[in-house]
Amino acid sequence: MRNKIAAGNWKMNLNLEQAQSLVSELVNMVTDEYNGKAQVILAPSFPYLSTVQFMIKGNSRFHVAAQNLHQAEGGAYTGEVSATMLTSIGVTHCIVGHSERRQYFGEDNALLAQKIDVCLKHKLTPIYCIGETLDEREAGKVEEVLREQIEKGSFHLSADEFGKLILAYEPVWAIGTGKTASPEQAQEVHAFIRNLISQKYGSTVAENCSILYGGSVGAKNATELFSQADIDGGLVGGASLKSRDFTDIVKAL
Ligand code: PGA
Repeated sequence: MRNKIAAGNWKMNLNLEQAQSLVSELVNMVTDEYNGKAQVILAPSFPYLSTVQFMIKGNSRFHVAAQNLHQAEGGAYTGEVSATMLTSIGVTHCIVGHSERRQYFGEDNALLAQKIDVCLKHKLTPIYCIGETLDEREAGKVEEVLREQIEKGSFHLSADEFGKLILAYEPVWAIGTGKTASPEQAQEVHAFIRNLISQKYGSTVAENCSILYGGSVGAKNATELFSQADIDGGLVGGASLKSRDFTDIVKAL
């Protein structure tokens, strides 16, 4: 059985006080209202990772993710953060290749492969994001784009290593736009991704891989999305900043 996961990507939002309130509300609400098995992963900005980690320590449902990391082990890379820095403060997951990183920071599949490698080397679970733009969808290139992202970014891994990854399918046109892929559209892509994994690594690895959907997931559409056979949870941006909405998303798992 693969893990069900709700991951909240806070992006570059919230001050420290707001971050602390959000975490304490979330921990209380999720603990009171949900007793299923799903994991909850919170991805705050770097300055709050330690605080959030401290606040959820000992709670086995909650985990902390970084939103990015540098591919090098360490050294003269001003402004960057390494895998060992993250693990040394108890961070367990890291988002890799979010479309905003690809779009605004020029991160390509080859670089993302290196980021995934450094994560795995240091026992950080990568949440590897893939997804097509609107132009690519309209040009009928969804499968081609996803195949390239997944092959170049992650198919150099051994089956054992690949088994440690979480994938997130986030159509770029659905991120922050209020336009969600329909549950059927998303399911079709998730099934395609799982099939690619199966062809490369076999059906056991494919069946055990958690594939999250992201792009305008909210309290209203989560249940329908998560009821699809190949959708194992969500990578949530805007709605993860509101404790009520995010708790409802967790409850939809
Ligand atoms: P959104 O963002 O939920 O605000 O669309 C999702 C994401 O970028 O991970």
